[in-house]
Amino acid sequence: ASTAATSVSIAGDISSQLHSGYSHPLSRAWQAERQLTKSMLIYPLFISDQPDECTAIPSLPNQSRIGLNRLVPFLEPLVAKGLSSVMLFGVPLAPNAKDALGTAADDPDGPVIQAIRILRRRFRDLYICADVCLCEYTSHGHCGILRDDGSLNNEMSVDRISDVAVAYADAGAHCVAPSDMNDGRIRAIKLKLTAAGINHKVLLMSYAAKFSGCLYGPFRDAAGSCPSFGDRRCYQLPASGRGLARRAIRRDIAEGADIIMVKPAGQYLDIISDAKEIGSDLPIAAYQVSGEFAMIHAAAKAGVFDLKAMVFESTDSILRAGANIIITYFVPELLTWLES
Ligand code: PBG
Ligand code: ZN
Repeated sequence: ASTAATSVSIAGDISSQLHSGYSHPLSRAWQAERQLTKSMLIYPLFISDQPDECTAIPSLPNQSRIGLNRLVPFLEPLVAKGLSSVMLFGVPLAPNAKDALGTAADDPDGPVIQAIRILRRRFRDLYICADVCLCEYTSHGHCGILRDDGSLNNEMSVDRISDVAVAYADAGAHCVAPSDMNDGRIRAIKLKLTAAGINHKVLLMSYAAKFSGCLYGPFRDAAGSCPSFGDRRCYQLPASGRGLARRAIRRDIAEGADIIMVKPAGQYLDIISDAKEIGSDLPIAAYQVSGEFAMIHAAAKAGVFDLKAMVFESTDSILRAGANIIITYFVPELLTWLES
């Protein structure tokens, strides 16, 4: 043995040496608990009640409101690239489509139920999730049925929301995802799916930890679901409410949720990590919401960073925090980027 080698090994504290573990692209990839794959991605779609519509949404770069006649040609190239799942949102634009009860939400001829049927028929392997809420369909834009004082009537809302969920499931949705935040809706949906005899084949994804805040603006533009008065602070969680989120996650697991979602994603990585810890035996989904998406686009355009680099940094962070499903408007780009 050479004396030089001996003196080096004595001089160094071996535990301080980390670079050796990630000096190669492959050994860097091995550092991740989970690596992003196409099957982890869910693409949100805005389905318009105007059959021939394909209108760009100004506040959501590269996203459009799509009518039923445009849906299949729109999705064909994405499915060919490996799109595995979509999340459907209905956008009723017809005059008088909205009322106090959100009646149009489960209209059998409405955009969501029709889209589910079309997609099931046309794309055998596409996994179809349907967001369940009333805000797109209510005249007041809130996520449920209101009392005279403008607050949510939880009982009536849960009853209505669970009917809508069953209608979407009946139409063929593989997954129903209630985003309304009324208390007790997970249990109510489970019970009604069971009564309808379809519980065994419908996944229930709870928007359990959904925070109120300023990151949903572009979505509300797109879906026309901005509340006409007030805000959603009495049903969506306060940004600082980590304990509340943990309670909501525990509750929704106990009520029968198959998947727990955290939303928004990037600003709530600690909550994703909590969800992973509390729901260690469930898949955890994270929704990179419209405001996060628009913000990343705007910053890339302003030269703050390269778009692709930031998209991967954000999705890697979401996975690192504990999610294994990501709902994001970047799915088309990611399908391309994950190709190589
Ligand atoms: C409807 C719903 C919203 C989002 C998902 N479902 C908007 C809201 O709660 O106001 C937000 C998605 C996004 O911003 O991308 N309840
Ligand atoms: Zn809503």
